[in-house]
Amino acid sequence: MKNTEQLEAIFQAVLKTSKDLEKSYNELKEKFNLLEIKLENNRRYLENILKSINTGVCSVDLDCMITTFNREACSVFEVEEEDVKSKKLNELFKIDTDNVYELIEKFSNQTKMSIEINGKEKKISMSASPITDNEDIVGAVIIFSDITRLEELEEENRRKEKLAVIGQMAASIAHDIKNPLASIELLVSLLGDDSKKDIADNIMISIKRINNIINNTLLFTKTVIYRPEHFNTGAFMDDVELEVYAHLKSRIVKFEKRVKRFDIVTDKNLLKSAVVNLIVNALDAARSRVVVSVYKKNDKAVFEIADDGFGIDSQTAKHIFEPFYTKKKNGTGLGLSIVSKAVKIINGKVEFETSKDGTVFRIWV
Ligand SMILES: Nc1ncnc2c1ncn2[C@@H]1O[C@H](COP(=O)(O)OP(=O)(O)OP(=O)(O)O)[C@@H](O)[C@H]1O
Ligand SMILES: [Mg+2]
Repeated sequence: MKNTEQLEAIFQAVLKTSKDLEKSYNELKEKFNLLEIKLENNRRYLENILKSINTGVCSVDLDCMITTFNREACSVFEVEEEDVKSKKLNELFKIDTDNVYELIEKFSNQTKMSIEINGKEKKISMSASPITDNEDIVGAVIIFSDITRLEELEEENRRKEKLAVIGQMAASIAHDIKNPLASIELLVSLLGDDSKKDIADNIMISIKRINNIINNTLLFTKTVIYRPEHFNTGAFMDDVELEVYAHLKSRIVKFEKRVKRFDIVTDKNLLKSAVVNLIVNALDAARSRVVVSVYKKNDKAVFEIADDGFGIDSQTAKHIFEPFYTKKKNGTGLGLSIVSKAVKIINGKVEFETSKDGTVFRIWV
């Protein structure tokens, strides 16, 4: 009996211990679950921070193997997160190290670099800092941002500032030349003597050329006011021919006019600058012929300048309307930028078609 009691007591003790154990286990499990939820929340919170910031963040381990690559980093490198995880950093872009210590040293300061992504060049700025665990380096975190657009804007600003200064200078020079030039033109026109006619003609041609350059420069640099007037396309084209006379005389290219005569209302001087510049370009490009046609289509006046030159290649075509873009030895590159400026002011449209057999420019007003 004594034994049974003893056994019973032991059993009860074991039962209690096991109940206590079960209780502690359950408490522990609950704590563990809570911790796990907290940990998951923290992980998600961190992930959201990484996702939300508009800076590229990438972490690597000691072997420079990528462990984190946030959304902005993916967008900079145009990749998916799964594609880069467990890849080495130098597989993603050209850096000449896969040693984390070297990486940290090299990029300890913000560094700008160019990288090629899917055939496009991007400028990124990046810096690397160590990830430490108890003072031991266990990896690195690399912060980078795409500064391509920023650099482009800075470059554009620098160019604009330069242009503004050049513009002011050019405008004042052009303005000062215009007056003595008008006097020379008048004096030359008075040289009626037949024996000197050729000389006088040549001087006149040069004067017209200088005049054209000055008009272009002034048009390019100053703010132009739209001054519409009523005129006939026939008389207008005679005026235009007079303006390009200098260019016609010095070339073997045939110049043909097919002009429908009708009245229009627009800024005559602006339209003239545009048409003259297109004709001069066509004369430069033509192999043998330039045809200028004026006609009406869909209630609009069309001024069409066609040449039989070698055309404009696609790379050049992207830039021709930019100021100072020229492929000619003596060109200023202002012609087409003036065409687009003038056409815009008169509320018109300029277009072109080009092939290896020639180019057609059209102004619609
Ligand atoms: N009809 C054309 N055929 C072939 N190329 C052309 C034609 N018109 C323009 N281009 C190209 O576009 C470039 C820019 O023309 P744009 O008139 O702006 O400047 P430019 O003629 O070079 O110099 P500028 O007109 O200031 O004397 C030219 O240098 C030329 O390469
Ligand atoms: Mg030109």
